Amino acid sequence: MKSLLADKKILFGISGSIAVYKAAEWVRELAKTGADVTVVMTDAATRFVSSLTFATLSGNRVYTGMFESDAGENVTHINLARECDLFIIAPATAQTIAKLANGFADNLLSSLALASRAKMLVFPAMNSNMYSHAATQANLARLKEYEYSIIEPDEGMLACGDEGVGRLVEWGVAREAILSSFTPQDLEEQTVIITAGPTCEPFDPARHMSNRSSGKMGFALARSAKRRGAKVILISGPTSLGAPSGVEMINVTSALQMHEVVMENYNNADIVVMSAAVSDYRPEKIAEQKIKKGSDSIDLEIVPNPDILKELGKRKDKTKRPLLVGFAAESSDHLEEGKRKLKEKNLDLIVINDIIGKDTGFGTDTNQVNLIDRDYQLEKLPLLAKEECAYIIWDKIVKLLQ
Ligand code: CTP
Repeated sequence: MKSLLADKKILFGISGSIAVYKAAEWVRELAKTGADVTVVMTDAATRFVSSLTFATLSGNRVYTGMFESDAGENVTHINLARECDLFIIAPATAQTIAKLANGFADNLLSSLALASRAKMLVFPAMNSNMYSHAATQANLARLKEYEYSIIEPDEGMLACGDEGVGRLVEWGVAREAILSSFTPQDLEEQTVIITAGPTCEPFDPARHMSNRSSGKMGFALARSAKRRGAKVILISGPTSLGAPSGVEMINVTSALQMHEVVMENYNNADIVVMSAAVSDYRPEKIAEQKIKKGSDSIDLEIVPNPDILKELGKRKDKTKRPLLVGFAAESSDHLEEGKRKLKEKNLDLIVINDIIGKDTGFGTDTNQVNLIDRDYQLEKLPLLAKEECAYIIWDKIVKLLQ
């Protein structure tokens, strides 16, 4: 997949905090995606990590002073400010935030901020008392008025030994904020429910029936929707994946629990995407004690689970009308089965998924899907990274919303 950040010009401003060492990792990650990263450091920042580290990681010259242009060269701060697609400041100290809020231009970083018209992402990092001080909060509020995006710091143990809010966010959070700034916000004001992963149907305290769904596709859909500005509620069966940043995640185990949580949240949703591999059946009884081996076979009465999506499809015509998207997990007759489910479950879109292909089955990082919409229009997608596949599915959903 061609990275969303490939060839993007990113100006990366760094002010002096112990968190500068984390910024080194961010610059490395950004450069790996193909972004063209130019680092600008304040004097204080260079005391923590040398500019050589950032020059090596970014592959570009690092700027630290106001008067570095050679004779005849354009003025550095105007040039750098004019050329960038995105301006990041991380870590942003209380001092730098105060300068930005008040229009100071007494070092290269603050001058660039004043001269730039690029989208600004500010990642504060400081002691928790400094962060919560009314002066810092007023300065941050002012930056929001200037349409800077502020990514709130994390809570936890700080380098000074205090505990509280002020820790620079992790790369995963920063990555999502950066990708989001290059993504059209076409799901803004939409509330989206996404289900993901398998469900597990217990029959004694130690064992359950389940399936091999990894949740990767559903989590990619959740990240992608969040990046496009949606409010995302991710209802997930057991997986080994961490909660995507900025997403409300509700963990469930069984199909009955997933059913209950979907129904609780359904009325507030504009779009429901059921990518979970919901178990169709469950053992009727859960033994209180572990079932001992001994006999040749055991009797398990298996009963059907509610079909969550079908139930939503039936309600669709009577209530507020969230757009409904289903996934069809198929091993044969893919298109026919997909169409049947689209119709039977009264869906707006079905994503048909081959579960036995080498690169398309459970647990893979890639997927090849076919989309059929409510007008029976078929769109065949090539083999893609699940991340990119999610992106195209949302493109389709956005069109269906119109
Ligand atoms: N689904 C659901 N509740 C169930 C079973 C499935 O909401 N009890 C949803 C899935 O999340 C998916 C769609 O229905 O979006 C189709 O699921 P799939 O397993 O492909 O089809 P089934 O309807 O279960 O039929 P079959 O297993 O016979 O193919």
